[in-house]
Parts: sequence; C-alpha cells; structure tokens
Amino acid sequence: MARIAYVNGQYLPIDTPAVQVEDRGYQFADGIYEVWLVRDGVFLDHAGHLARMKRSLGEIRIPQPMSDVALDIALRETLRRNRLTDALVYLQITRGVSRRDHAFPAGTIRPSVVITVRPAPRAPVSARAEAGIAVITQKDLRWKRCDIKSISLLPNVLAKQAAREAGAFEAWLVNEAGEVTEGSSSNAWIITGEGRLVTRAADETILNGITRQRILRIAKAQGLVFEERPFTVDEALGAREAFVSSATSMVMPVVSIDGRPIANGAPGSLASALRASYEAGEES
Ligand code: PDD
Repeated sequence: MARIAYVNGQYLPIDTPAVQVEDRGYQFADGIYEVWLVRDGVFLDHAGHLARMKRSLGEIRIPQPMSDVALDIALRETLRRNRLTDALVYLQITRGVSRRDHAFPAGTIRPSVVITVRPAPRAPVSARAEAGIAVITQKDLRWKRCDIKSISLLPNVLAKQAAREAGAFEAWLVNEAGEVTEGSSSNAWIITGEGRLVTRAADETILNGITRQRILRIAKAQGLVFEERPFTVDEALGAREAFVSSATSMVMPVVSIDGRPIANGAPGSLASALRASYEAGEES
C-alpha cells in the first residue's frame, strides 16, 4: 500500500511532488516539527507534543496554521489512511512559500503543513532495549536555541551518521565544558552510584523531551531521587547506569560510551524498570 502524506490540506501518495521549491523550509530550514509515537492507535503524550509545537512556533513567530481541532483531525486521518496502529507520526510546519529573502516575507503567507507516518513495530525496539545500545561522543556543534524543535538538523545528522559509522546507535553531544548536553535525537540520562537519576536541566541547550518530562513525573511518583543538572562524559563513564529517552526509543539503556562499558556493560535494572513503567503508561 502506498504511504500517504498530508500536504497543505490534501492526502497524497508520499512520492507526489507537492512542496514548492521556494518553501522556506526547503530554502532556510525555516520551520519546526513534532514527532508522536502511536501505540494501538493512541497518540502518546498528545497534549505535551501539541504544547511544545505551539511553543516552537511562537519562538520563531510562525502563526499556528490551523486550529487544534483541525490539526488533530489531520493527524488522525493521516494515520488512518496509512492503516497503521503502531506508528511514528511526523508533523512539520514551515513559514511558507515566498521569493527567497532571508527576512520574513512582508505580507502574510500561509505556513506549510506536512504530516507523514511510518510504521513503528515494537519487536525491534524491545530487542534493542534488551541488548542496550552503544553511544559515541561528538562535539555539540549546534546553535544556542536547542529548546526549539527546529527542522534545521545538520549537526544532529552529522553526529548520528558518525555514530552509525562507528557501529553505535546514538551520539551524545558534548559541549566545551565536557558536559553531555543530549543525544542527536534523544535526551541523555545517567544513574549515579547512589541511585540518583540525573539529566540536564531543560534550558536553551537541549530540547525538553516530552518523554523526558514523563520520566521525571514517573520518577517523582515512584519516589526516586532525581537531579536536573549537567553531567560530564567522565561522570557518565563512572555511572551505575545510563539511558536515552525519546518518542522513538522511549527509555533505551546505554551500555557503552566510546567503546567503554558502563558498569558491567549490560542494561541497568532501574532503566529497564523505568522503561516498563513508561510502557505501562504510569506516571502519577
Ligand atoms: N527526536 N533531543 C533531541 C535533539 C531530539 O531530536 C529528540 C526527539 C529528543 C527527545 O524528545 P521527545 O522525548 O519529545 O521525543 C531530545 C525525535 C524523536 C526525532 O527527531 O525523530
């Protein structure tokens, strides 16, 4: 069955040429995106993703192109037309089409909206979580507003490619102070020797993951001790456990950094328990 994409009000086979050359997303990466994990037809953390979408749009002054209700219908209809119940749904909103000029167009233009869906079968992700993943470190080359879910992802792309070429699943981005900010497409976590959960505070140096926020709520509900603060690569190497979080991976144990094992090199028990809580939909 052909994959169907939503493009500015139309449902089209995904390979239909439908985005214009002068779309500012294509010319300048002038836009934002969101990614939802769908399980059994349910958009996980729907409200959180919608709130972050609104925030990203506001920060770069793109007006929300359609009402929440209309957007919700388009998201669900695109999913339905792809006949999937376990899926990833991508929403991209750009400033729209206009003659190429860095500054915003003078008049009002209509933002472009694209929704795509792809299958997200559970078995490969579960198998990966059971084995744990390797990460490598890469310099964090990104701009200073990583809190905006911008479609401008070149440093993330290059870091992920480096990971792939090294046989690792994710790249942890390291700033000039030697701190791990986050992964190329995930948030980074460690669990200290004392069992404290540590992840960087959600300032402008990272994307405040919706999964990250849910894990913090789960931790609070379960009475786990957590700290939102920076941690270095050295601290991570000495940690009891490590993991990454994202809509695509949920909670994914990390078993090595740059080829050096964390603890005994196997997925940690707390990360695995958090993953189970996440999958069970627990939070408060
Ligand atoms: N990435 N940090 C970065 C840089 C990300 O790209 C992502 C998500 C996250 C985790 O956010 P969330 O928990 O809301 O998925 C953190 C998505 C999945 C992607 O780009 O495909």
